[in-house]
Amino acid sequence: MSKNIIVTGGAGYIGSHTVIDLVESGYNPIIIDNFSNSNFSVINKLEKICAKKIKSLNIDCTNKNELVKKIDWQNILGIIHFAALKSVSESFENKKKYFFNNVESTRVLIDIAEENKIENFVFSSSCTVYGSPDLLPVNENSELKKALSPYGETKKKCEDLIKNSKIKKFHILRYFNPIGAHKSSLIGENPKNKPNNLVPLICQCGIGKRKLLTIYGNNYSTKDGTCVRDYIHVSDVAQAHVCALKNMIDKKNCKEVLNIGLSKGISVLELINLFEQSNNIKINYVFGERRKGDIQEIYADCKLAKKKINWRPKNSISQALVDAWKWEKKNKLS
Ligand SMILES: NC(=O)c1ccc[n+]([C@@H]2O[C@H](COP(=O)([O-])OP(=O)(O)OC[C@H]3O[C@@H](n4cnc5c(N)ncnc54)[C@H](O)[C@@H]3O)[C@@H](O)[C@H]2O)c1
Repeated sequence: MSKNIIVTGGAGYIGSHTVIDLVESGYNPIIIDNFSNSNFSVINKLEKICAKKIKSLNIDCTNKNELVKKIDWQNILGIIHFAALKSVSESFENKKKYFFNNVESTRVLIDIAEENKIENFVFSSSCTVYGSPDLLPVNENSELKKALSPYGETKKKCEDLIKNSKIKKFHILRYFNPIGAHKSSLIGENPKNKPNNLVPLICQCGIGKRKLLTIYGNNYSTKDGTCVRDYIHVSDVAQAHVCALKNMIDKKNCKEVLNIGLSKGISVLELINLFEQSNNIKINYVFGERRKGDIQEIYADCKLAKKKINWRPKNSISQALVDAWKWEKKNKLS
């Protein structure tokens, strides 16, 4: 049986960490990325970590002709589809671009999977599909309220396309907030433009790239007025993909939607304090206006992922913050 797994967006943050786990578990990842939010140098770093040549193709996942021409789809065991644009704020400015990139790429990959009878499909969804939940923690049966951003709408639309497709076996993984970096400090979160996620912004303040961190809103109805999220080490998120693949490969049918988080609600202020304590560094911050599209409070119930794919996060939030800071320091100097 072929061990080839297509990893779209495999040069990106979560995809690159997953490539390592796939190699460690005996799979043969083939990266497809258009490098719109990543650098080719990631591939070299992956080869160094894995001590193995990693095949990568510079193709846009919305381009079906190119994908069909360049890949032997008959010889593919599964597809993990990470490739997407992910900035909530940018999605308000560029709604069409977000819908085209995220939804069309998913449509194309479903088409290819159906045409070539590729049965194992894993999709990167997000907790944004829950919108602003009434009850916490959210589980997979929680109501999907209206997404608060076009980005969230694209994820909901892609989930629907997959659920209504002919693909027999899929896992839709709804990630909460991946943070941290690989323990080698060779790869980590490295967006091309200004980061939108909290931890890279904290790190950039720590290293002096930014003077001040702006916390978007301190008047939410939460424990300290700042937003509450469920942060999880990116390596634990990566591991969930291997667990999902292993779970479905020998089954005839398997259609799972699973939350992937640490199941702990941490406020932005708590996370900054924990970063300071874990890394013995001071972060200067100011409070700013609320940011459009931000959910007040969300954290996950992840019991289903434990039960269905035998996945358990291994790292603490503090460890993730130590790894993020180590990566920032190494990345800045390299
Ligand atoms: N990081 C998070 O906080 C988070 C949370 C929930 C869900 N997700 C989802 O997880 C997935 C991976 O996120 P990430 O944080 O690794 O993002 P990322 O931007 O680091 O990685 C995405 C990769 O996909 C590539 N890409 C984008 N559009 C493409 C296209 N049309 N064709 C080919 N390649 C394309 C980019 O160049 C990048 O390398 C995304 O689908 C994202 O929406 C991320």
